[in-house]
Amino acid sequence: MFVDKERSDVIVIDLNVQFAKDYVKDDEWLQLQPFVDDAHRRLHEGSVPGGDFLGWLHLPSQTLQKGLDDILEAAAEIRQQADALVVIGIGGSYLGARAAFEWAKPEYYNQLPQELRGGPELYFAGNHLSPVALHQLLTILKGKRICLNVISKSGTTTEPAVAFRILRAWLQERVGPEEVRKRIYVTTDQAKGALKKLADEEGYKTFVIPDDVGGRYSVLTPVGLLPLAAVGVDIKQLLQGAAEEEQRLNTSSLTDNPAYRYAAVRNALYRKGKTTEVLAYYEPSLKMFAEWWKQLFGESEGKDLKGIYPSSVAYTTDLHSLGQYVQEGYRNLFETVVQIQQPSVELTLPSDAQVDDGLEYLAGKPLSWVNDTARIATQLAHADGQVPNLLVTVPEQTERALGQLFYFFELACAMSGLLLGVNPFNQPGVEAYKVNMFALLGKPGFEAQQRDIQARLKNMQ
Ligand code: PA5
Repeated sequence: MFVDKERSDVIVIDLNVQFAKDYVKDDEWLQLQPFVDDAHRRLHEGSVPGGDFLGWLHLPSQTLQKGLDDILEAAAEIRQQADALVVIGIGGSYLGARAAFEWAKPEYYNQLPQELRGGPELYFAGNHLSPVALHQLLTILKGKRICLNVISKSGTTTEPAVAFRILRAWLQERVGPEEVRKRIYVTTDQAKGALKKLADEEGYKTFVIPDDVGGRYSVLTPVGLLPLAAVGVDIKQLLQGAAEEEQRLNTSSLTDNPAYRYAAVRNALYRKGKTTEVLAYYEPSLKMFAEWWKQLFGESEGKDLKGIYPSSVAYTTDLHSLGQYVQEGYRNLFETVVQIQQPSVELTLPSDAQVDDGLEYLAGKPLSWVNDTARIATQLAHADGQVPNLLVTVPEQTERALGQLFYFFELACAMSGLLLGVNPFNQPGVEAYKVNMFALLGKPGFEAQQRDIQARLKNMQ
């Protein structure tokens, strides 16, 4: 196990179920202990459904042990040759990097002067099929020195393939075929796929996504690490935090393992009809973290006609929109609040006797205290409104804490899926729309489906 023993400043993620106690008694989740014991053993033996995709379990410590030289070297190269880096990918090949970028860097990072940024501007493409959005990106990239990092495990996903085709041609037109080779970084399977083939033919610098790590568990592979290192996110600290959780959470005890406790409590809530989970956060910079979390739980659990529907809200913003529904709407919800305990910066409310806004009683108070008071008030109100509230506490908004949080939820999700009785590591459902889309787009090999679908659509008119 590779954990920096020199560190004395222990930071620990925890789970608080105080605002859920009226809906789920401790006994209800504690009785799951034998199932958790068994699932934990099988997870570590590799004998669970999807056992070929367990590389993430020891990925943090193994990556730290192996070293990060190749990634850090490429990141330095990108920083040197680019004003802007475009990361092309979707789903698991996109969300983790963006979550960590927004967690670690300021909201207006791209607008900061270069000396304050310390890295290239960062843009994301290939996560939609909108010509409008892609055109807007091309407009902002004009006149800048660009690098591309195209990320796709399969190497055949439509959205990133479309964006890569357009961006590669655009770049080649500007810098020529020789230069474009130095500007493209490929992250893909070690042996197969169209992207791997092209990378080999063109000599693009290539990083490997391990076979045994699925997309939504891949943020701590080069999928996330390369673009994050390029913009100066401390990837060693990210891995260090994850490695700490890898060690701490290697116990099946529901008392000692808050990630398993979270899985057990949400399973108990699900059995009582709480079929939608709302992830709530009070720092806007957690928006993409919530998107990462939704993919993790949605793809892992939503199958076999089962699963908790994962959704998210940004508070206090959404208290002025979705808050009404959460307080008084259909009662199938529970909420999980991710609380950053120590804000990275503080602001104090000034005194202003001239403005009659009724806020003078708050003069001199820290804004983070007001924000956290809103959190407590909301948890209380929602619990009173029959929305059980769980609280995941994160001591600080650092790379190390994020590494811990990534691992915490990955492990919790695996356990939660196993308690639900599904394979948490496959995603058969995401193929259904693709068959229809390929048939309608006229992809060779889909002729029969095309005839069938066109007939069905005609009958619907
Ligand atoms: O979690 C998953 O497996 C998916 O979300 C994939 O990451 C996503 O579909 C992109 O796939 P690929 O990396 O093969 O382009």
